[in-house]
Amino acid sequence: MTQVIGTKTEVPTPIDEVVDDEVETAQLVVVANRLPVRPSSAKEGDGGWRPSPGGLVTALSSVLQESDGLWIGWPGASTDEPVPKEFEGIRLKSVEISPEEYEEFYLGFSNATLWPLYHDAIRAPTFHRHWWLAYQTVNRRYAEAAAQAVETNGTVWVHDYQLQLVPQMLRELRPDVKIGFFLHIPFPPAELFMQLPWRKEILQGLLGADLIGFQVHSNASNFSRLARRQLSATGHDGTLRYQGRDTTVGAFPISVDCDQLISLAQDPAILKRCDELRETLGNPQRVLLGCDRLDYTKGIQQRMKAVAELFAEGTLVPGKDVMVQVAVPSRESDSHYERERHELEQIVSEMNGEFGVVGSPVVHYLHQNLPYDELVALYLCGDVMLVTPFCDGMNLVAKEYVMCRTNLDGVLILSEFAGAAKELRGAFIVNPHDLEGVKEAIRTALKAGKKEVKSRMLRMRRQILRRNVFDWANLFLGALSGLSESPSPELSALADEVRD
Ligand code: G6P
Repeated sequence: MTQVIGTKTEVPTPIDEVVDDEVETAQLVVVANRLPVRPSSAKEGDGGWRPSPGGLVTALSSVLQESDGLWIGWPGASTDEPVPKEFEGIRLKSVEISPEEYEEFYLGFSNATLWPLYHDAIRAPTFHRHWWLAYQTVNRRYAEAAAQAVETNGTVWVHDYQLQLVPQMLRELRPDVKIGFFLHIPFPPAELFMQLPWRKEILQGLLGADLIGFQVHSNASNFSRLARRQLSATGHDGTLRYQGRDTTVGAFPISVDCDQLISLAQDPAILKRCDELRETLGNPQRVLLGCDRLDYTKGIQQRMKAVAELFAEGTLVPGKDVMVQVAVPSRESDSHYERERHELEQIVSEMNGEFGVVGSPVVHYLHQNLPYDELVALYLCGDVMLVTPFCDGMNLVAKEYVMCRTNLDGVLILSEFAGAAKELRGAFIVNPHDLEGVKEAIRTALKAGKKEVKSRMLRMRRQILRRNVFDWANLFLGALSGLSESPSPELSALADEVRD
């Protein structure tokens, strides 16, 4: 029988019964679905481990290295190689997920129930009771691993939608620790969240944390309103009181490693690669660029249709203008993702069939994982960057592109439904569902004078430079360690800044 989440245990388990002397422990423990390492692919062929791609690894590496912290997570693909105990100065502890749990916890509840529900129900979320059971089981495993690993009065920082029950489960096991939770994806409004049959349990799970961080203020408000309505929590948007405890709730917009991107963007080898890429593309006058995980939330098809119509009307000219679309493979065994790929590839081949000339396709489409250097070279090539998701927590591609444009050229077309749009006011902001609006924004961006392009880029760069990804991590951890009766001034200031 699965334990009901949120039910207080009668007597808390004594700490020394939970902490096993044999187990590695740390003052700071990060818990995320994935470890910061992944097994090398067959193509890489060295049988070793590589850093996982993604902002979270960058964000937390230095904090964990400095504090001798520990990262708990799942290594992803199965491999015969044991997960290393340490990788690039970060201690690792792996959590196993069985093939059935991969289906029910990862593909199922996490990515076919929560993912679509939290992204505006762009695809209909699926609700299965057995997926929910798997979600509880796996969350409990992570909570137990964290309870074992964290030292007395230590800190545990839990990440993302796959692990929303961990804060409450961990609190029951280890009432002595400070628990933070950060949601990287949007938190939906009540109208959508209320569909979830286990809505109360998820809210209770999250309220086990001392601090819950969201990307934008409206997401924090959605959560607070739901907690008051569904659980009769009291308090205002910044601090909620539930079952005799306070939980602080706020917006902490995630960022990028600005220094690293600036230095990569000025690296002679990467600049040379950018020149090579432009040459390979046929030295076009203008390169339009899209880089996304291949996900139905990213609005890739819609964007391609807008670009196709611009070729059809003559605003874009085959041979002179070219589009590069990188679509990183993701969750490929899910039918929605499979369909998304087929539909997108259909559109790309239609565009090339209709507008391409021999030797010059209008769209260069890459369905693959690219090394970071190559991605930066592409950012440097892209005169117009299209980031047009239907719904997105933040979207770090938009911020990465801006940080790479050290020459202050290049334009960003950005969806109003990406968290980044709250900060990057220098972008051309679009409604990605409005094809005419997207086309008009691209036309305007292409016509923009150098002065306007530069001033928009400067504005966006200044905004990102104000707070890099390390500030984000430190701000969150600082707020967590300094929690008192009222939220810290930094937290209030940050919340105000990103408020609509
Ligand atoms: C999003 C989520 C992350 C997730 C990533 C890749 O960015 O917020 O938690 O790790 O997608 O998805 P995957 O399912 O491959 O972990």
